[in-house]
Amino acid sequence: MKIVNVVGARPNFVKIAPIMAEMQKVKGIEPILLHTGQHYDYGMSERFFNELGIPVPDIHLEVGSDTHGRQVAKIMNRFDDYCAHHAVDLVLVVGDVNSTMACSLVASKRNIKVAHIEAGIRSRDRSMPEEINRIVTDSVTDYFFPPSEDAVQNLVHEGHRPDSIHLVGNIMIDTLINQQEKIDASRVLDALDVQPQDYALLTLHRPGNVDQPDHLSGILDAMAEIQEEIKLVFPVHPRTLRQLENHSRYPSLKSLNNLIMTGPFGYHDFGKLLKNAQFVLTDSGGIQEETTYYRIPCITLRENTERPVTITLGTNELAGSSKERIMSHVQKIQSGDWKRGSIPPLWDGLTAHRILQVIKGLNL
Ligand code: UD1
Repeated sequence: MKIVNVVGARPNFVKIAPIMAEMQKVKGIEPILLHTGQHYDYGMSERFFNELGIPVPDIHLEVGSDTHGRQVAKIMNRFDDYCAHHAVDLVLVVGDVNSTMACSLVASKRNIKVAHIEAGIRSRDRSMPEEINRIVTDSVTDYFFPPSEDAVQNLVHEGHRPDSIHLVGNIMIDTLINQQEKIDASRVLDALDVQPQDYALLTLHRPGNVDQPDHLSGILDAMAEIQEEIKLVFPVHPRTLRQLENHSRYPSLKSLNNLIMTGPFGYHDFGKLLKNAQFVLTDSGGIQEETTYYRIPCITLRENTERPVTITLGTNELAGSSKERIMSHVQKIQSGDWKRGSIPPLWDGLTAHRILQVIKGLNL
């Protein structure tokens, strides 16, 4: 069985690592790794391959950055060429980035079966590019691997056959568990001169926040106030850096005493920072889950989430981008009045194994 496993952007690498490791153990499966090149900086891509022991990609499409439409078109063009010349039994895609959608569409047009890991999650916010990617990908998926019961229900309501839906749990948590020793060994706290519980961690990259000046301003106001109370570590995504550099407040931001701005971290350093933070502010999807696993308070700088278990069971709350709402959450955390949360079902490190059990049994 020849399976093309698709990755393109940073969160995909974290999700594919345990899948590649598990596939290599199974006789009769030939895993092929395809990197679209959506992310290409060393710190956004290759560093994750090295740290997580992901094999060097067999195919690299080298698409790079562009408008979303053109990026998707380039991936489709190049992947279609590959499929025209190679026998492929299954295309496996993960998550919700442009590469996920582009490759699933190509496969379905060529009558190649599609498996989707992290299927079925929905924010119901179509202004997010990822929501469109989720809906389109699931509309052409043959084998669904949702992480949670809410995602199963979304797929059932959209009319997908129950026997094509396999609730397997959260693949990101496999990696978090597998990498725990190396995360603990990271020296990043020393390097930044911060102590456990004595700093907050911020990540920001959604277009809905960083490309919209009023949203970005609300968050910048909150950052200035937070760093008066506690050190604030802020690894800056390349998209965000570009927008910040164009913002009138960039010079004053750089002069804030307790704001530690850095480039993106690798997986282990970032994991160490997450695990030891007093609280986390983020607009990422995966970080809402990782904080729930570590039981660290998480303030999500969005109005919705496609990962509702992080709120119902975990440590996450939504705050949007207004300074007032963000600060009221911060005060709640600092007064010790935050939920402890619990770890959702099937966040146990065995998701890749469950997925391979299903794939082994497919009659392709
Ligand atoms: C993408 C995903 C998002 C995911 C995020 C993780 C989509 C629609 N979005 O968003 O779901 O949460 O990755 O990071 O697929 N850039 C670099 N170097 C890189 C990559 C990007 O400098 O290696 C810069 C470029 O200026 C680029 C911009 O970042 O235009 C945005 O990159 P892009 O891949 O379009 O989206 P992300 O914001 O990273």
